[in-house]
Amino acid sequence: MSEARLPGLPEEERFALARPGAAPQPAFIDLGHATFTGHEGNRFTFTGAESRARVRLTILAPDLARVDLLPEGYAEPAPSWAVAQPDDAWPAISLEITETPESLTIRAPAMTIHVSLQPFRLAFYTPDGALLSMDDADAGLGMARQNPGPAPYIVQRGAWGARCTKTLQPGEHFFGFGERTERMNKRGSRFLLWNIDPHGPHGDQTWAMYSSIPFFLSLRDQHPTLAYGLFLDSAALTEFDLGATHPARLTFGVGAGNGALTYYFFAGSGPEPLASMLARYTELTGRMPLPPRWALGNHQCRWSYFPDTWVRSLAREFRAHQMPCDALWLDIDYMDGYRDFTWHPHRFPDPQGLIDELHAQGFHVVTIVDPGVKQDPTYQVYQQGLRSGYFCTTPDGEVFHGPVWPGMAAFPDFSRAEARQWWGEQHAALLDMGVDGIWNDMNEPTLTGRFAPELDVPWGSTLAPQVQHSASEATLPHLAFHNAYGAMMSRATYEGLERLRPNERHFVLTRSAFAGTQRYAALWTGDNSSLWEHLRLAMPMCLNIGLSGIAFVGVDVGGFWGSTDAELLTRWSQLGALLPFCRNHSSANTRRQEPWAFGEPYESSIRRSLELRYRLLPYLTTLFHEAATTGAPLMRPLFWHHVSDQTTWEIEDQFLLGRDLLAAPVYQSGSSNRRLYLPPGEWAYFWSGERLNGPAWVEVRAPLDEIPLFVRAGAFVPLGPVMQHTAERPTDPLTLALYVPATESADASALYEDDGTTTDYRNGAFCLTGYRYTWNVPGTLSITLEAPQGTYRPQRQRLQLEIHLPFPASQPQSSVQRVLLNGAALAERPARDPGIGWRARTTRSEVIVTIALDETWEERTIELLLD
Ligand code: GLC
Repeated sequence: MSEARLPGLPEEERFALARPGAAPQPAFIDLGHATFTGHEGNRFTFTGAESRARVRLTILAPDLARVDLLPEGYAEPAPSWAVAQPDDAWPAISLEITETPESLTIRAPAMTIHVSLQPFRLAFYTPDGALLSMDDADAGLGMARQNPGPAPYIVQRGAWGARCTKTLQPGEHFFGFGERTERMNKRGSRFLLWNIDPHGPHGDQTWAMYSSIPFFLSLRDQHPTLAYGLFLDSAALTEFDLGATHPARLTFGVGAGNGALTYYFFAGSGPEPLASMLARYTELTGRMPLPPRWALGNHQCRWSYFPDTWVRSLAREFRAHQMPCDALWLDIDYMDGYRDFTWHPHRFPDPQGLIDELHAQGFHVVTIVDPGVKQDPTYQVYQQGLRSGYFCTTPDGEVFHGPVWPGMAAFPDFSRAEARQWWGEQHAALLDMGVDGIWNDMNEPTLTGRFAPELDVPWGSTLAPQVQHSASEATLPHLAFHNAYGAMMSRATYEGLERLRPNERHFVLTRSAFAGTQRYAALWTGDNSSLWEHLRLAMPMCLNIGLSGIAFVGVDVGGFWGSTDAELLTRWSQLGALLPFCRNHSSANTRRQEPWAFGEPYESSIRRSLELRYRLLPYLTTLFHEAATTGAPLMRPLFWHHVSDQTTWEIEDQFLLGRDLLAAPVYQSGSSNRRLYLPPGEWAYFWSGERLNGPAWVEVRAPLDEIPLFVRAGAFVPLGPVMQHTAERPTDPLTLALYVPATESADASALYEDDGTTTDYRNGAFCLTGYRYTWNVPGTLSITLEAPQGTYRPQRQRLQLEIHLPFPASQPQSSVQRVLLNGAALAERPARDPGIGWRARTTRSEVIVTIALDETWEERTIELLLD
């Protein structure tokens, strides 16, 4: 078949195949002896005596340095696809420099860098001289020739790459690296980062996934504060060897670039070093914009809901079953012959009418958009792309075509600003019909012969390495751009939506991501399977993705491939309800898995999970705001807040949602108990109020309708009323649940709110309210609700303080004598009377104080006097 021959490429290199197993073994040329050739401001240059390669060391922040290896003839490193903050945007810092004939020592405020010149080696220390990381004595930074090997499709034959080897410190643990399977701690592994659509089911043997984030964090046994982070800024094939080949060495390298390599080094500091490093990393690569509020709700997807009548009945069923939901998704079958930006004329004859109806019921609509543009001379998007030269080409300048859903397709060159702009504009065809969000899929990019079996396309195929991008004057081979392709597609999408609907917030979901993708899209972990093991795997994967800068992350709830069962779906929905992104999705030809699919008691259990998510919306909104301002993930490993407790370093089947909630989902069939670890401190069981103290391993009962969930004592958890969708009604009353610790204490929290739809928050239209308490045992509890910052005020008439006192309900306890609001006594009410005043629920040691809010939003103090 003539189409099967891809023009301009040798037959054996039609597709860049996914090749597991050993990475190419490069011949290595160490930079060797070097001289210090001067510095300009905070940039220091060294030149290799023989290679003439240069190393540029740039100190950008007190705890951040960049190292560029530049082969002779390269004035500058290649442009970054990840970095958001240019060098000149970093505030100046003062450095102290000591020079000797053999070395240079640079003292920055939060780290010291020692450069040895004979041979060239770098070492990073804390300000007081403790070693963080140093180049290996035998092999430091240098060029590496890529050995073609027997099937080197993902390496350019004979090209030069580069690599760097450092000494592994005893007890180092490695976290991050974006989306990978296996254990969270990658110590002892060796792997390549190369975005592909991996064959399912994903597991320890899966050598690569859809996304690559060459950023990691190192924590050291016994020395939790000697933490550092490293970001290898290359969108080419990259390789990491974390003590696999040589137990005392850490090696990383890039498989393209003619010997150039750029990495960033982050020195950890403070009692929560992960937080400080993520803040810095996301300052460098950008932070997420606030998503629209509806995107925090529950989403429902399937491959595919069509025709339109099915979508309508789905919407009705959600409301009839009282199953909270904010978004219905349309997978590939809404399109006309899988042509992007079109609608199937018979399946969706009136998309606008359909979407209007869905909007009226409180649903938002998300449509899929794949990068492959159908090769069809009569199709306008294809015509325009051809005419304007926006598609990727072969080395001899012909448009590259490869097979995807629509048959042969051309691929937009997302490395080019004009092509991204053009792609963004195409979304008007969807937004004009009322579409609310966009789902970018297959953007590794993946080639599949599913609908073109004659092509014999192996699973995991992508564009051939020689395919050309034209980001700049000089063309860029796909090999050097590959891992950023999907990220730049979501950039094109996000920026297009911003232009089409300015002053609105946008939601894009992507399957393929690179460092920095948090600026444009949320990420999901692709095609998992309906397996208990994949319910467990969701936790370490999402945790490491969060540690790699992408906070808005989720998995296909219920599992994609294969058919789920009632118990698995129920337990998965419990985890899903606490993931930053919550979407139920499954493949074609699998059993239906909408929340009511298995009837009772499962349906009620799932409803309970979703209602919990909706009640937690004020808490989630506050965490999204934190992610958008500090880079902290919503879903955190226990060690994020408890780094000194090394037991937490190994725990990857529990997580913290923000600082205050600890979840331990059930992920084993038939379990009705869950053993879990509580880090140091006092914890309250969410469902009963019972108190437990950590550090401790405990076992809790976990009936089918309850996810084991704890609240940190000292926390204020803001809760809203149950809603069927996020805009159903105002958050009124707002409930502030305060879990008062057993011991004397004081603590503070905050709640972030805004209009949830526009970007006005950037101009101060938000409402940030601080809450604090002081607890003097056993006498008084004083709570202050501060006057909010920002100009936005939510629609709200009542606030309900739900005070959980630290006395077991079964034991004699102190009783509340009086409750004062700004010094004046509040009326006591019967336990079930929700009116203004206070009431005690003694069976649960709870006091509920309901206050009326007025226009002033002034600071208020509530005092409880106990006997
Ligand atoms: C890919 C996606 C999956 C989607 C399917 C059809 O497999 O990962 O989520 O349903 O393509 O578009």
